[in-house]
Amino acid sequence: MNKLTIEQVDLAGKRVFIRVDFNVPVTEDGRIREETRIVAALPTIRLAQAKGGRVILASHFGRPEGNVVAKYSLKPVAERLSQLLGQPVPLAPDCVGEAVEGMVNALLPGEILLLENVRFHAGETKNNPELADRFARLADVVVNDAFGAAHRAHASNVGIAQRVTPAVAGLLMAAEIAYFNKAVRQPQRPVAAILGGSKVSTKIAVIESLLDKVDQILIGGAMAFTFFKARGYPVGASLVEDEMLEVARRTEAKARERGVALLLPVDAVIAQSLDGEQQQIVPVEQIPAGWMGLDIGPATVQLFAEALRSAQTIVWNGPMGVFEKPAFAQGTEALARCVADSAALSVAGGGDTDAALRQAGVAERISFISTGGGAFMELLEGKELPGITVLTEA
Ligand code: 3PG
Repeated sequence: MNKLTIEQVDLAGKRVFIRVDFNVPVTEDGRIREETRIVAALPTIRLAQAKGGRVILASHFGRPEGNVVAKYSLKPVAERLSQLLGQPVPLAPDCVGEAVEGMVNALLPGEILLLENVRFHAGETKNNPELADRFARLADVVVNDAFGAAHRAHASNVGIAQRVTPAVAGLLMAAEIAYFNKAVRQPQRPVAAILGGSKVSTKIAVIESLLDKVDQILIGGAMAFTFFKARGYPVGASLVEDEMLEVARRTEAKARERGVALLLPVDAVIAQSLDGEQQQIVPVEQIPAGWMGLDIGPATVQLFAEALRSAQTIVWNGPMGVFEKPAFAQGTEALARCVADSAALSVAGGGDTDAALRQAGVAERISFISTGGGAFMELLEGKELPGITVLTEA
């Protein structure tokens, strides 16, 4: 990465505006359900403090669409953060404005202030120049650690970074970029990509982009059934995107032309409904009418495990089945164990992938799990992320 990082800049006595992604899942009653993104931001926050910075944290949370909505307040995050850091983390009443400027200017080195949800202002998601100016008034240095939001060009990540120099990558952002580069841009070969999820339409850009970069693509999840229907197999009641049949055919042809092994499941766990009471394992060519494929079967796990054995690099996006239901989680979990056992560099991310790896109990043994959903997907699609592009060159 040719961007400056927090490690390379002087922060002593400076107002350090750290854009983080604290967009964490919460329960109905507003408790934090999953705190990975908060924990992942701690090293950058601690480094800014250790360097004598006066720390201002900014994040979006949910999609309040420019309105002040109580359930999207960052209050629970402020409380959790203060427990994790062992020091008070006051929550400002807003993210910009005179009162907030007063609080920011009163910060001493090492002290932290969390700004209220930046999406309480409609200008945030429009990268409104006036709002960006107001953010810029709070900062001497900008640190972007919000990889999860790096695919958005908003006022609190892109707008402010266009106004304040230096705007540098935080440690999480730098790690995300470094692992992505190692796994996709300059990988050790052979490279295997595991792609799951329900729809070809949401993954086709990723598949197309990876066809130029990897040696093997292993496809699971409901999207495999669109490929099967395109081949003329009976798919029963499995989820299929009929408008993507031609695309699936072309994708298989392109993979052949480019010498990329595109592996599809050979067996499936099928059921007539998601309750999973009655299920069978059948070859993928033999799905009866009224039955749908909900997970990859054991022969597929074996096939995929064999394919992964020679890989030096593994990239994973998307589950192999309806892993949230125990009856259809075995394929995803078995493959997760297989990736964890592999000596290859393994990088996973996007959508449900992190949840599936945690559920399988192997998250610690994956080389890197991205904190990005959409951002990781866009990188896989080969896109530039505006939140990264805008950062100061090293
Ligand atoms: C995410 O959860 O993927 C990021 O925080 C971005 O959120 P958004 O999709 O609401 O912009």
